[in-house]
Amino acid sequence: MRGTIVHPGAGELHYEIRGIVDFARELEKTGLTITWENIGDPVAKGEQVPQWIRDVVAEEAKKSSSSYGYSPTNGLASAREFIAADRSKQGTYLPPKDILFFNGLGDAINKVYTWLNPRARVLGPDPAYPTHSSVEAAHGHSGHLTYRLDPKRDWQPDVDDVRRQVAENPSIAGLLLVNPGNPTGTVYPKAVLEKFVDIAKEFKLFLIADEIYANLTYDKADFVSLGALADGVPTLIMRGLSKEVPWPGSRCGWVEFYNRTSDPEFDAYIRSLEEAKMTEVCSTTLPQAVLPAILGDRRYEQHLERRRQKYARRATQAIEILNAHPMLQVVQPKGAFYLAVILDRQILDQAMSKGAVNPEVRLLLNKTILGVPNHNFDKHFCYQLLAATGVCTVPLTTGFNSSTPGFRMTLLESDDKTFNDTLHAIYQFCG
Ligand SMILES: Cc1ncc(COP(=O)(O)O)c(C=O)c1O
Repeated sequence: MRGTIVHPGAGELHYEIRGIVDFARELEKTGLTITWENIGDPVAKGEQVPQWIRDVVAEEAKKSSSSYGYSPTNGLASAREFIAADRSKQGTYLPPKDILFFNGLGDAINKVYTWLNPRARVLGPDPAYPTHSSVEAAHGHSGHLTYRLDPKRDWQPDVDDVRRQVAENPSIAGLLLVNPGNPTGTVYPKAVLEKFVDIAKEFKLFLIADEIYANLTYDKADFVSLGALADGVPTLIMRGLSKEVPWPGSRCGWVEFYNRTSDPEFDAYIRSLEEAKMTEVCSTTLPQAVLPAILGDRRYEQHLERRRQKYARRATQAIEILNAHPMLQVVQPKGAFYLAVILDRQILDQAMSKGAVNPEVRLLLNKTILGVPNHNFDKHFCYQLLAATGVCTVPLTTGFNSSTPGFRMTLLESDDKTFNDTLHAIYQFCG
């Protein structure tokens, strides 16, 4: 090449949640049955999208050809008006023009960081959903700056540490929260959210809250949207259909802009997001067209409630089994559908002695984990677990930019016995 063509932040892009799949597929070819616990797709894990939702989608697809066309860049007016009216019912002011649709939140997250000034950094949680941490790091050309979620305090952040970091580092322009959290299942109490708002006010920061799991908080009363507390602070709230409906294949998510005009810089930044979206024309039309009919249906709330109860039950089941092991630690999640299992370092010796199901798998394992640094011992653990049992999980350190070693599994399994067998396989693997 004539000059360097690689983006200076390219080395920061990682998505281990899918990365481990290549290895698992290799093992599958040797005859090993894989239990896919790595990916947060309820549909792939066998959850049925209710018939009435499928009927709404089918009717729209049959009814007219309008959902086959492009939609306005910001999104269909009917979908934006529905969301704005819903926020208004909860006492939050959000005009439809301050909503921008994306092709899933993956698209939104990429644009939000890519169009930030490279010198403006966003401080995010550790552990974090990797699209945030790696795209933010790529945008800033260096590692993602984080505040630690402490498992000893129910994975809650130390807000004083957030404040200290902001005070010491003038490049921090924004704070990110993922609420409910992935991979931790943490739900931020109102008092913690208010402290983030106070810090943002004091240092003139903007806030981002990824609330894609907002309606999957096991006790509905636990969840408060940051949009309702923003109190004049420029704020982006991210929501979507992937996890809720569930419909990840719709590639439909949106960002709500709060207090857009409270700061001209923030307003100009939002305009750049809209322009960036315009160069792409628009987001997927069909899911927006059916959004009001699905989210506004009286059966939707019952559907969500059934799923919330299922995840709460799965979490209890998992905690009962895994927390009985002295080298595993699980904090009760309060929302979303994941379990972050913390590992004691000594567990690695135990894990390494387990071997693989057959010599071919052993060979593949040795080749793959060669070169993985020892401090990522949870990655060694996950690959070894996969080779010995077929259970595919994601290491916290490399998968979620986590300083706490462990792994993430899901609470999505539809079959009681399969879930129980998976938990017992993990427990026994740990010795
Ligand atoms: C916290 C969080 N945000 C965003 C996404 C991406 O969602 P989408 O399917 O809308 O791209 C995920 C997916 O797992 C997630 O866990």
